[in-house]
Amino acid sequence: MTKKLEIYKCEVCGNIVELVHTGQGELVCCGQPMVKQDEKVDEENLTEKHRPIIESGENTKVKIGSVPHPMEEQHYIEWVEIISGKEVCRHEFLPGDRAENTFCSKNADYARAYCNIHGLWKS
Ligand SMILES: [Fe+2]
Repeated sequence: MTKKLEIYKCEVCGNIVELVHTGQGELVCCGQPMVKQDEKVDEENLTEKHRPIIESGENTKVKIGSVPHPMEEQHYIEWVEIISGKEVCRHEFLPGDRAENTFCSKNADYARAYCNIHGLWKS
């Protein structure tokens, strides 16, 4: 059973989907089940390049990692999003960008970031 906001990836073609409405069926792509991406949480900051760090102020700024994550063609943070109650705001990055964004929303319950190699990370 799927849950809202879960992220699934096709391990064949690389399609990634986020659940905006749940149903009973299994998510399938390229003829096989899509794989749920677990939200990795790093309480001890051991993988300091991936953890989204929320800085609250007038707006919500999210920076990925206390150490800058690579933003190269082969390895980069694809997107970051903040979830606040019923609101989801996502910012997409390109290689060469800085892995940080300031959102219009003032509040964030938590943030998630997706690395194209190391997967999904939660603040
Ligand atoms: Fe990474």
